Amino acid sequence: MVKTTVSLIKADVGSVPGHAVVHEKILQTAREKLSEAKKNGLLLDFYVTNCGDDTELIITHRNGVDSPEIHKLAWDTFVAAADEAKKLHLYGAGQDLLKDAFSGNVKGMGPGVAEMEITERKAEPLLFFMMDKTEPGAFNLPTFKAFADPFTTAGLVIDPSCNKGFRFEVWDILEHKKVILETPNEMYALLALIGAKSRYVIKRVYPKPGGKLPPDEPVACISTDKLYQIAGEYVGKDDPVGIFRAQSGLPAVGEVLEAFSFPHLVSGWMRGSHNGPLMPVSQKNAHCTRFDGPPRVICLGFQLADGKLVGPTDMFDDPAFDTNRWRAAEIADYMRRHGPFEPHRLPSEDMEYTTLPGVLKNLEGRFVKLE
Ligand code: F6R
Ligand code: MG
Ligand code: MG
Repeated sequence: MVKTTVSLIKADVGSVPGHAVVHEKILQTAREKLSEAKKNGLLLDFYVTNCGDDTELIITHRNGVDSPEIHKLAWDTFVAAADEAKKLHLYGAGQDLLKDAFSGNVKGMGPGVAEMEITERKAEPLLFFMMDKTEPGAFNLPTFKAFADPFTTAGLVIDPSCNKGFRFEVWDILEHKKVILETPNEMYALLALIGAKSRYVIKRVYPKPGGKLPPDEPVACISTDKLYQIAGEYVGKDDPVGIFRAQSGLPAVGEVLEAFSFPHLVSGWMRGSHNGPLMPVSQKNAHCTRFDGPPRVICLGFQLADGKLVGPTDMFDDPAFDTNRWRAAEIADYMRRHGPFEPHRLPSEDMEYTTLPGVLKNLEGRFVKLE
């Protein structure tokens, strides 16, 4: 059975003004590059969009995950887009391209990647989630809710092909190791890890054996690239992306979206150094303008047809999410009132960049021991 690979590769290569929105010229340049590759037969299909200041490449192909050809194409596309950004004097032009030359895989070079190779079902609904001004751990809560919380996903209780539960691949991004945990039997252990979302992140979700889907093919995949660990210093946010499959033995489209409706607190926002609510918005409303935020999540839905992307539908462009957005705006107000105080400001070890060491250094000679 021929398999299809779905890749979502993103980078911030410049925006206007400041860290707000990708310029149309950048998107055009990316579309031209990918359409050439489609003509040459490397790609089955593609769709280019942006979430705030991040350029997002949705690509389908037959090359499998971690394909050097596909990753090189994405890299070259971002380089061409960054050149345009430089010409337009866009802000942060090329900021996520951390290396000068491509070396086989975009991982560790700056861009974020979520990709999975799947046996396409007769009707394959795909949801592409893209976030701006936050971190990969922002996916932990909604991914858990979609695949393991019966108060979110009714199918876990009433659909016999869904209620076996799922397997979660969790990465410890500090120590670079991973573990697989099963729900519902290991739910508490899973929560013990993923509640610490700046360290333990859900990388993939798999079905259990014996169900409708092959157990070795992921049903969700999330990018886990931490830019600051790659570069050794602050170079930009590691705004994450994720691909979710849905329906027929999996959470329904509406159950997955429901999991993202609650504007939970995530870290990122201004200077990558603040907690704030994750607001679900339409693609055109992914403008991080208030205090460079609050953090946003968008979702584009497609049906896959022999590797072709049929769509998109802008999933949060729906008044049914208005109250969630209002709640997010209210929480943003409330959090802002804390100014430089925690828990609005992140603890210093979680800040993307901080002037705190400098402040402490200046005060060094003035500290005296307590009696
Ligand atoms: C957060 C983000 C922005 C910038 C802020 C300062 O992810 O991108 O909030 O951190 O606008 O940017 P610089 O240091 O470029 O002036
Ligand atoms: Mg930026
Ligand atoms: Mg961004």
